[in-house]
Amino acid sequence: MLKEIHEQPAIINTIPNNLSDKLIEEICEVIKKTQDIYFIGCGTAYHACLAGGYLFSKIAGRHVFTAPASEFNYLEDFLTKDSLIIPLSQSGETIDVIEPLNHAQKKGSKIITMTNAFASTIYRMGDHKLLLGAGPEKAVASTKAYIAKISVLTILAYALVNKLATGKKILRKAAKEIKRLLSKESINQIKNIASLLAKSDHIYIIGRGVSYATALEGALKIKEVSYIHTEGLSGGELKHGTIALISKGTPVIVIAPLDDTYDAIISNAIEIKSRGGLMIGISSENNPAFDIWIQVKETGSPLLTHIIPMQLLAYYLAVLKKLNPDTPRNLAKSVTVK
Ligand code: AGP
Repeated sequence: MLKEIHEQPAIINTIPNNLSDKLIEEICEVIKKTQDIYFIGCGTAYHACLAGGYLFSKIAGRHVFTAPASEFNYLEDFLTKDSLIIPLSQSGETIDVIEPLNHAQKKGSKIITMTNAFASTIYRMGDHKLLLGAGPEKAVASTKAYIAKISVLTILAYALVNKLATGKKILRKAAKEIKRLLSKESINQIKNIASLLAKSDHIYIIGRGVSYATALEGALKIKEVSYIHTEGLSGGELKHGTIALISKGTPVIVIAPLDDTYDAIISNAIEIKSRGGLMIGISSENNPAFDIWIQVKETGSPLLTHIIPMQLLAYYLAVLKKLNPDTPRNLAKSVTVK
């Protein structure tokens, strides 16, 4: 897991070359012809679908429908031959994705597959095939494949509005910042935070906009390797129930990039702090609402950068708890059976 976390800057930098401009153009042409676009995936791949939905709407002005693949079976009535399904899957063998794809094929819908496994079942089901190029991912907890999905979705979103060069520039900036976040000094700070949180029973992670996807992904990383119950949620949802669970010392990670969600997520942080929460802010700027500040500089892609501290936190929490982050209990690398 740690090795794969450290591979991420290099992977981001190879993605624009892996995806030839010609292939990007071909994929964009298919997307432009379709109004009815569905992203589906499971677990980390579903979080990448959510992120893709934000990127496509905010940057490319396109509406996409996103669902956990396991729920898609109940939503397929809308599929037609004019629909486009974009399944995301690292392994390309996830049964919950294969099943709805079989139904989509029967309805004549187009499929663009985004996988990390050449010739995998899902890869082969695509009318058009995008390979993530992250290299084999062995750890059960997906990190580099997630970052590769976000990178590809970022490139596609910018290419759809003829700003491919901007997308590539953002990836380069994000890769540079991630390299800094993987430095000894940054990791030492994460190790200190891990020792603070190792005995927690519950951790909450809040984000808004694109950072909602990051909150869900950060929560999944932490819970699946450290077995600490961690809940990711939209900051706006706090008042609708979860704030009842906040008491003195409850650790809450706040994802606060300087985007259009900043003021609202900081006001969420103040609400939680006033109820005794231990606030850990992930942001380019410190804020009085934070008890602990993890600096992550602005690069134009918080989706790529703000997840890194939580990937590392998950890993070091597991190590502190004398757990093997590479083989978490009850989990398989690929869920190939129902
Ligand atoms: C991610 O850390 C988990 N191991 C799990 O949620 C995984 O993302 C999910 O099973 C989907 O796998 P896939 O990308 O191979 O389809």
